[in-house]
Amino acid sequence: MGRVAVGLAVTVAVAACAVAAVVVGRRVKSRRKWRKVVNVLRELEEGCDTPVGRLKQVVDAMAVEMHAGLASEGGSKLKMLLTFVDNLPNGTERGTYYALHLGGTNFRVLRVHLNGQRSSVLEHDVERQPIPEHLMTSTSEELFDFIASSLKEFIAKEGDGSNISTNRRELGFTFSFPVKQMSVSSGILIKWTKGFSVVNMVRRDVAACLQEALARKGLDVHVAALVNDTVGTLALGHYHDPDTVAAIIIGTGTNACYLERIDAIIKCQGLLTASGRMVVNMEWGNFWSSHLPRTSYDIDLDAESPNPNDQGFEKMISGMYLGDIVRRVILRMSMESDMFELISPKLKIPFILRTPLMAAMHEDNSPDLREVARILKEVFEIPEVPMKARKIVVKVCDVVTRRAARLAAAGIVGILKKIGRDGSGGITGGRGRSNTKMRRTVVAIEGGLYSSYSLFSEYLHEALNEILGEEIAKHVIIKVTEDGSGIGTALLAASYSS
Ligand code: BGC
Repeated sequence: MGRVAVGLAVTVAVAACAVAAVVVGRRVKSRRKWRKVVNVLRELEEGCDTPVGRLKQVVDAMAVEMHAGLASEGGSKLKMLLTFVDNLPNGTERGTYYALHLGGTNFRVLRVHLNGQRSSVLEHDVERQPIPEHLMTSTSEELFDFIASSLKEFIAKEGDGSNISTNRRELGFTFSFPVKQMSVSSGILIKWTKGFSVVNMVRRDVAACLQEALARKGLDVHVAALVNDTVGTLALGHYHDPDTVAAIIIGTGTNACYLERIDAIIKCQGLLTASGRMVVNMEWGNFWSSHLPRTSYDIDLDAESPNPNDQGFEKMISGMYLGDIVRRVILRMSMESDMFELISPKLKIPFILRTPLMAAMHEDNSPDLREVARILKEVFEIPEVPMKARKIVVKVCDVVTRRAARLAAAGIVGILKKIGRDGSGGITGGRGRSNTKMRRTVVAIEGGLYSSYSLFSEYLHEALNEILGEEIAKHVIIKVTEDGSGIGTALLAASYSS
């Protein structure tokens, strides 16, 4: 080989080594970055961990806070609001009643026909429409005029109205926000939640605002009941199944109500009801306990929310927030690595990832996680997502949802414990498991997270079994009601208008 050839060979070899070194260097770097992604995931898993021991601590904390909230006004972050609903509909109600439902993603108008007999299917009509976003932060007049106009249009479509009385119509208003009730048909707004912040509404009587708007539209409709969505759900659940003792909403927001003995509501001594009971609206979205597994993502989400230090439990559980927790984790991963090559500016937009889309990624069963790639492209404009990154995204959704569902389960058991239906004889009962007969106990549930997100409901049931033990858990029935919050409110309007 001549000198020239040797020189050439050496140059080629050096160049090849240099290229190889660059490739290896890049790989090492990329592997290091990928390790960071894996570490972020691991940290998230640890932060969101909810072993059964921790869930039981949450159960106890929930029961203790319930007692504190019932003992004195402001005694707990759980408001434990009186509803003045002391009797739940029993099937003897007759006539046509209306309901308006404000507070979730959709606004609903309903009409329910009751024939005085408890029937398994209640004849009703419902119209849903997404609540126009600008109304969530508008003035109270604008918001209530919209609500009254929707009812007016709904009534106008009744045709010749041959089967509908022309007398004054009776209506129940499902208002899914914390309200301090003065009676079953009046109450003042304590605060807004779920992104609503209509000006000049807090401390005003919500039913009166609606009644005035109905009058402005020339409608002869009487607001006979002002009802939280959980209470409407309980009313319908109890109507169909008298073993129903509590109701839970896990949708855009989350909350629970239950039937309480009147003598346990210590903050209102002297309160008497014929039934000796009253439905209590817990406003559990505001529950807080040091046992809740909180991560830096929760802390940031809370700090940047319009209501910091408020609705802590809701921010870990409900549909308004889960997608945004996932977005925050993915953003951190993409900032610490080249997981998506470039950091998409869309990843920095709060609430851009809606929970239904997050659920769709989580439940993507296609072998190449096609749906995950499609949603990441559609929402965040990330063009090509490698398979291993898709898998990580699914895992993040899983961790966030599993924690939410398990905490919701612990909340439910907390209520059962408070009323002595957890098989342990209640928080102060002191009776052993063996001599307590567990009664059939039904909890009505409504909201998209439970009814449309099967992994969420699976995780919730799994946790109920773990906390209660299978023997006890089989006596606890979680029953979905559809439009229960609206139909149940119409039922309450029927009971309380007469
Ligand atoms: C509200 C509750 C409501 C729940 C579910 C929460 O944000 O404070 O009143 O029941 O959402 O809609």
